[in-house]
Amino acid sequence: MRGKSILLIIGGGIAAYKALELVRRLAERGVTTRAILTKAGAEFVTPLSVSALTGEKIYSDLFSLTDEAQMGHIQLSRSADLVVVAPATADLMAKMANGLANDLASTTLLATDKRVLMAPAMNLRMWQSASVKRNAELLKKDGVVFVGPNDGEMACGEFGPGRMAEPLEIVAAIEQALTVHGPLAGMRALVTAGPTREPVDPVRFLANQSSGKQGYAIADALARAGAEITLISGPVTLAAPQGVKLQRVTTAREMLAACEAALPADVLVMAAAVADWRPDFVASSKIKKSTDRVVPLIKLVENPDILATLAAHAARPRLVIGFAAETDDVVQNAVAKRARKGADWIIANDVSGDVMGGERNRVHLISEAGIEDWPDMTKGEVGLLLAARIAEKLKGAA
Ligand code: C5P
Repeated sequence: MRGKSILLIIGGGIAAYKALELVRRLAERGVTTRAILTKAGAEFVTPLSVSALTGEKIYSDLFSLTDEAQMGHIQLSRSADLVVVAPATADLMAKMANGLANDLASTTLLATDKRVLMAPAMNLRMWQSASVKRNAELLKKDGVVFVGPNDGEMACGEFGPGRMAEPLEIVAAIEQALTVHGPLAGMRALVTAGPTREPVDPVRFLANQSSGKQGYAIADALARAGAEITLISGPVTLAAPQGVKLQRVTTAREMLAACEAALPADVLVMAAAVADWRPDFVASSKIKKSTDRVVPLIKLVENPDILATLAAHAARPRLVIGFAAETDDVVQNAVAKRARKGADWIIANDVSGDVMGGERNRVHLISEAGIEDWPDMTKGEVGLLLAARIAEKLKGAA
């Protein structure tokens, strides 16, 4: 857990005092906490005690100009490894389950791209009410994890389920929620995607039609399988998939440098459409039309072959996968490419149709075992299937 960070939302309930203890227990384990204190929460614990224990300022107001200037609510919602709601009141659960966002806590819960762990605390009749039960089911279906509530005596004198889990139980639940699951847990993957852009002058460049969709889908699928992903991407308009470390580059040479810096990795998937050539000279100012109408000549030089370089690298990933975008003799060219580039697998696709930029793909997997023809499917499905095959291969070889 050491080095991890938690965003703790403290709701309004008598159990809020246990949230202070939770912060201390987390700090002992090297976990840093940033806290959002709801208006109701501030009726039970003071901002001063929370900030003294977290060592951070407290966030409470969605419309606070200084808070927004220093850290916007969207950034706040993504800044931690896990969002923990303790105590999770019936109100906070209802808001998240139904998409309400009228304060900082509820807005954060909708905006976050991280897992949410809730520790409910409320009167037992409230906990057993039809609507709270319904909301808890909805939240579970949406992927929210719960710890507690426990049975016991309530502050109001009644006895039954509704007491917030104890701080150490919440710590254990946090530890479990932070542990990565999936067949590729503990593995590192390096994925490239998108085109590269090779400048001609300050305003012009050579590039290609790659949208990055296939590479991003593969990074997403590998991340869902539990791998730690570095996605190195040329200029595209896609957002980083959840849980993926995205690094943007422009040219092939930048992509190579970024890949080398990201090693070691267990698997490399080179889905990027790297420019084979670049202008040998980049004009420092915009090339002008000449009065005598002489057309400028752009001389090209070869770019480094990233795939071949990494396949021959001292820190070569155990599984090196390249792509072959072909318009003719797709499989035949891909088989030759596999040998020439020293890749273990080649995913060959026919790009004579609208594959580049489109949503679907029909590929062939060329490996040591032979050639497999996959049916036409979405790029997301290609990613999932490829992630499953990678998991099989790496597990088998481990
Ligand atoms: O030779 P071709 O460009 O068709 O090979 C495609 C494969 O090689 C892709 O995986 C692509 O990412 C990779 N490649 C590379 N560096 C280059 C050109 C292509 O890594 N300069």
